[in-house]
Amino acid sequence: MSAILSVRGLEKTFGSVVAARDITLDVPRQQSIGIIGANGAGKTTFVNMITGYLRPSKGSILFEDRDITGLPSRAITRLGIARSFQVAQVFPSLTVDENVAAAVAVARTRASLLMSAITPLASAPATAEAEELMTLFQLGDYRNARAATLPQGVRKLLDIAMALVGAPRVLLLDEPTSGISIEEKFAVMELIMTALASRRTTVLFVEHDMEIVARYAERVLAFHDGTVIADGPPTQALADPTVQTLICGTAPLGVAAGEVLHAQGLRS
Ligand SMILES: Nc1ncnc2c1ncn2[C@@H]1O[C@H](COP(=O)(O)OP(=O)(O)OP(=O)(O)O)[C@@H](O)[C@H]1O
Ligand SMILES: [Mg+2]
Repeated sequence: MSAILSVRGLEKTFGSVVAARDITLDVPRQQSIGIIGANGAGKTTFVNMITGYLRPSKGSILFEDRDITGLPSRAITRLGIARSFQVAQVFPSLTVDENVAAAVAVARTRASLLMSAITPLASAPATAEAEELMTLFQLGDYRNARAATLPQGVRKLLDIAMALVGAPRVLLLDEPTSGISIEEKFAVMELIMTALASRRTTVLFVEHDMEIVARYAERVLAFHDGTVIADGPPTQALADPTVQTLICGTAPLGVAAGEVLHAQGLRS
């Protein structure tokens, strides 16, 4: 099966900071990938390059065999790669209904200016697509609530429902459970992943909670210092000693991170 997404030798530098280096990987269609790594490891930089928010300094990105390297984010969204951000990008003063309708309007009109898209909202009939997404993400009960008043978990669901407008084939989620209470986390993630599976969406999600990663990722990409230090099924990647030390924070007693990197051949 050919990959839906292929990344070759991807690199991103900010002055002297190398935020991504030599990232090469293939993503098969419908795979669910968890992206892990400490703060500053380069997870968001990777997501930003795939989605066109950052232009790679080197390397290439192929989506469905088409070179999308360096295309602007709007063009990439139009081709079928969507994303969510670390902080939900909903319109706080609009209701849930209006938010979803706005996302549909933006996608349909290809409007670049938000206001031109949301002005006719009051009279706009809810479209079938908006209704389907509201049902899929169980947002019906919150229909008339302003986004600012929603519990954090529901706001995230709304954000992801809006990202799914236009039926993207690939979705990148940057910390979908951040800010959500431990009690709510699993229920929210379960709903998100069930919804994405029903739409056969390929998903890459950045996540700090290893229990969530172990439960919902078929494959784990572990980032450290801009590179992928482990890539495999969660049972394997999460058990990797380097990953344990550098990301999970469970270093074997007396073993420093540098020694582990050295032992793994990652640092001379
Ligand atoms: N626009 C930028 N300008 C300069 N440096 C940047 C920029 N964006 C990211 N960096 C740097 O690149 C590195 C990777 O950052 P990135 O945001 O990708 O990390 P992350 O893994 O998403 O971290 P977190 O878990 O905190 O979200 C960091 O050293 C960061 O300071
Ligand atoms: Mg980040």
